[in-house]
Amino acid sequence: METLNIALPKGRLGEKVYSMFEKAGFECPSIRETNRKLIFENPEKGVRYFWVKPSDVAIYVERGAADIGVAGKDILLEYSPDVYELLDLKTGKCRMAVAARNGFKDDLRKTLRVATKFSNIALSYYSSKGRDIDIIHLNGSIEIAPILGLSDVIVDIVETGTTLKENDLCVIEEIVPISARFIANKSAFKFKGKQIEALVSSLKALTEEEK
Ligand code: PRP
Repeated sequence: METLNIALPKGRLGEKVYSMFEKAGFECPSIRETNRKLIFENPEKGVRYFWVKPSDVAIYVERGAADIGVAGKDILLEYSPDVYELLDLKTGKCRMAVAARNGFKDDLRKTLRVATKFSNIALSYYSSKGRDIDIIHLNGSIEIAPILGLSDVIVDIVETGTTLKENDLCVIEEIVPISARFIANKSAFKFKGKQIEALVSSLKALTEEEK
C-alpha cells in the first residue's frame, strides 16, 4: 500500500478534521501526543499527516508535496489552486461578508475603500456589482481598518459575529457561505485514486450522519 500524504490545517479546524479522518478509519495515534512535531505517520493505515498553516494547505496539495488536504472554501476562492475539490466536509462553517461601522451609508459617488485579506474575492464581488473600489490588502486584524478610518468597509470571515460586535461593526452584505473542503492533487488522484476515493466515501458517510 502506498502512503497517502495528507496536509491538515493547524489549529482548531484541523483538530476537528483529524477526528473525522480518525473516525473514517485513517487514524494515526501519534498525532494525539502533545509535542511540537509537524509530521506523523501510521504505516499500518498508509497515512502520513502534516500540520501546515491553513492558508498553505492548497499550496502543498497543488504542488504534490501532499496528495490530499483540507482547506477552507475561502482559500480556494481566493487563490484558485489547480486541485480537485472532492468533498464539502460541512465543518468549519462561516461566511464571507462585507462589514462596516454601525450606521455606515455607502456614498456611491466615491470609490469604496475595502480592507481585506481576500483581495481576489473582494475584487470579483464588487466587479460583479459594478462598484468601483480601492483594495487595501491587510494580513489580519482587519476589523481595525474601518475604526481607524483606513477603509470604509472590510471583506472578511464572520463565524460567530463576536469580533464584529465587540468592535462596533456589523455585516452589511453576505458574499458566500464557507466550509472546509477535501482537496486532492490532480496526479495523485490518478495514481492513488482508489485510496483517495475510499477515504472520500468514508468521510462523506460521516458528513451525512451528522445532518
Ligand atoms: C477570523 C476573522 C475574524 C474572526 C471572526 O480571524 O478574520 O477576525 O475570525 O470570527 P467571529 O465571527 O467568530 O468573531 P482569524 O481567527 O481567522 O484570524 P485573523 O485575525 O488572522 O484573520
